[in-house]
Amino acid sequence: MRIDILTCLPQLLESPLSHSILRRAQDKALLEVHVHDLRDYSGNKHRQIDDYPYGGGAGMVMKVEPIARCIRALQAERSYDEVIFLTPDGATFNQQMANELSLKQNLILLAGHYKGIDQRARDLFVTREISIGDYVLSGGELPALVVTDAIGRLIPGVLGDESSALSDSFQDQLLDAPVYTRPADFEGHRVPDVLLSGHAKKIEDWREEQALEKTRRRRPDLLDQEEG
Ligand code: ADE
Repeated sequence: MRIDILTCLPQLLESPLSHSILRRAQDKALLEVHVHDLRDYSGNKHRQIDDYPYGGGAGMVMKVEPIARCIRALQAERSYDEVIFLTPDGATFNQQMANELSLKQNLILLAGHYKGIDQRARDLFVTREISIGDYVLSGGELPALVVTDAIGRLIPGVLGDESSALSDSFQDQLLDAPVYTRPADFEGHRVPDVLLSGHAKKIEDWREEQALEKTRRRRPDLLDQEEG
């Protein structure tokens, strides 16, 4: 799978893309992430990619031409399944969307900044708009990383244990059961006996029951969705 991220702050993306799971996915050649600096497509010597909003008002607006040039250059090389714009007014990202997007071949993620991007860039190129939650961040870079991480870890072979992505919270509309590691006794606080029992069926039942109980307590809405 290939993901192209368009941004005016490429440095912001460097570290998260070169560590941990996203690094491993790229090292294993299961995922290619290319970061493009929109200033390289500005078409002017000042590398300016924003301008004042027509009609006035606070904040600058990202110009349509650099975005158009960059997307067209990419689309001339290969076809893309989706051009995704990260924006607080998009559809709220969830595990189901991550699952769906992890099956795609080529994705463009467009990170906005300033007051927003010229509406024509959205109308002409964007096929999907995604928000990572009901709060406003200072740009689309962190949301682009969130989406890349959520998708990347689902690509088969990326996680060591193939089953571990499937047992994540939300994969089955249930939160995760608690987990423990050594020591079995920390200052008198003991790991539940069942986990030390070596009895696989009892452990599985306990985990399921804990997951259900936690979901009922914290996120009853997930159980309602399941029934509905
Ligand atoms: N850009 C700014 N805030 C955002 C959010 N919550 N989700 C996606 N993109 C954004």
